[in-house]
Amino acid sequence: MSARELLRQASGLDLSERVVERALRERMAKCGMADTGLYLKYLQDMAPAELAALIELVVVPESWMFRDADAFAAATAHVRHCLAGRPARVVRILSIPCAAGEEPYSMAMALADAGVAPASIRIEGVDLSACAVKRAQAGRYTRNAFRGADLLFRQRHFSRHGDEFQISDALRAQVGFSQANLLGLDTVAGAGRYDVVFCRNLLIYFDEPTAAAAIAVLRSVLADDGMLFAGYAEVPAFCRHGFAPLRLRGAFALRKAEPGEAAAGIANTARIATRAAAPERRQHKPQQVLAAVITAAPHAPDLLAKARRLSDAGDHKGAGAACRALLACEPDSADAYFILGMVSECAHDSAAAEEHWRRCVYLRPGHYDALCHLALLAERGGDAPQAQAWRQRAARIFER
Ligand SMILES: C[S@@+](CC[C@H](N)C(=O)[O-])C[C@H]1O[C@@H](n2cnc3c(N)ncnc32)[C@H](O)[C@@H]1O
Repeated sequence: MSARELLRQASGLDLSERVVERALRERMAKCGMADTGLYLKYLQDMAPAELAALIELVVVPESWMFRDADAFAAATAHVRHCLAGRPARVVRILSIPCAAGEEPYSMAMALADAGVAPASIRIEGVDLSACAVKRAQAGRYTRNAFRGADLLFRQRHFSRHGDEFQISDALRAQVGFSQANLLGLDTVAGAGRYDVVFCRNLLIYFDEPTAAAAIAVLRSVLADDGMLFAGYAEVPAFCRHGFAPLRLRGAFALRKAEPGEAAAGIANTARIATRAAAPERRQHKPQQVLAAVITAAPHAPDLLAKARRLSDAGDHKGAGAACRALLACEPDSADAYFILGMVSECAHDSAAAEEHWRRCVYLRPGHYDALCHLALLAERGGDAPQAQAWRQRAARIFER
């Protein structure tokens, strides 16, 4: 079995040849091995620790405090709603993947700032990366974890130690961390356990069947009236596999679709928003609690046209803002991600450009221009096999 396939089986990640090659080279050098075949055999036969070390080199534990902050406000409102009905209960929240704890600690801070009693909540963070989990348990961060303009929360909840910031003991005690693979979670033991689940910025690294398997796990661990938060580009995948979107300002939240409810599809968001505005018809649904923050959708085609116009005129900042506004009302807009990729490319940020174009082709696999740009990017990065793979995909689209 190839290293790429081994890593896919162990993590679910759909990795490029370049990433796998680089990780392999680094680990083989560390192990003092020169023969790839022998190393693969060693990896397969008897070295779970070696596989874990290899995985550490391919995961992307990129996160920061209050990333997409509106999600935490929406989750706080949902927690309050859960407690309003039964104040003695404990509301359970899961962050998977939690990276180095930025997401679950953000949730803990939001709840503390909202005055929710610590005894009423239990937050768990889970990640495949043992290194990330260790950092999460330590709760110590560099400036990189604080990227927003409003950092007052840092004064309230962190103490400074040289260039680093330590989360308070009280918040650290509220979050439990463990290392696990989302795809291997015990769904029987976890069935219906969580009132709130965050699963953001992981499915974009999975192929469609793996994303479907991950969503099935998440569906089973989420309570029937629970709320799930996804990343921008991931909402459509959830909608294809048993979830329905909730239209909340800036937060990409979903609920379980009801039995018999047609595959909700992102196009159904307007219908769901309308339902949310009629609380008497559906008691105890999270979207009702948050009806106050449900937004009227701006006109998506206008925003797309504006983004294109600004991008063509060289106003990259304006184009980026128009794309983000568009994504807030139409999260599955492949075109918005394509333009964001162009904007990042113009700012010489190739990593961001790649991420945007990858999201674009995840949402619309036949986006010819994005495939061509990805091919050029891979070529420039010296990843010939990946460049070839993108080019072949683009060629197939062109032939059609
Ligand atoms: C980009 S971070 C996302 C962190 C956070 N949810 C956010 O949105 O900021 C992706 C994380 O997914 C983790 N990961 C990758 N495959 C996983 C799997 N199969 N199960 C659990 N975590 C996984 C990686 O270790 C990495 O920390």
